[in-house]
Amino acid sequence: MRSFSLLLDFKTGEFTPHDRINMRKLSHMKGMFFDTESELQILRKEDPLIYSFSEKILPEENGHLQLATTTIQPGKIGEEYFMTKGHYHRRPDTSEVYLGMGGEGCLLMQTVDGDFDSIEIRQGVIAYIPPYWGHRMVNTGKTPFIFFAIYPGDAGHNYGDIERTGFKKILVERDKKPVLIDNPRWKQRD
Ligand code: PA5
Ligand code: NI
Repeated sequence: MRSFSLLLDFKTGEFTPHDRINMRKLSHMKGMFFDTESELQILRKEDPLIYSFSEKILPEENGHLQLATTTIQPGKIGEEYFMTKGHYHRRPDTSEVYLGMGGEGCLLMQTVDGDFDSIEIRQGVIAYIPPYWGHRMVNTGKTPFIFFAIYPGDAGHNYGDIERTGFKKILVERDKKPVLIDNPRWKQRD
């Protein structure tokens, strides 16, 4: 394999050239937001884009790294901010680094044993996600929230466990401010 370079647009988060842009609309995240009534009401009228991520396809092998940039739109479903689905890695003993590029948000992390952590992210903040921690990003601002991610080539994505349990805490707007509250629907994985 040969070396290569990419150009990263800090305003949109897109790579040039990129191999794939994934779009996640509300209909792709059924049941992930707490307020399912608001979700249904919105879906009756429209199917808003929640986030997109631009990827360069690289070998899914130990020794390589994967690169991606995500842009989460500003907005809420009920009082919960737009967010990514979140995942553990398919190879759970792999880590990841996120770099905030624009906008503001929060990184939520949890382990299957019920440990929880969060880090506020803005431009320039580098967050290290250790092995075994599931991760989700949330846009708490009024502009698109953009971040760069780099992780081991063979880490993969495990969405199923988050789909089953949800996150232990959710980020909602109260008095115009983001507040982290316990997720009443969270269940520990058995
Ligand atoms: O690898 C990562 O953690 C990111 O590039 C995410 O895949 C990206 O932010 C989209 O989130 P998710 O994979 O949870 O849908
Ligand atoms: Ni990841």
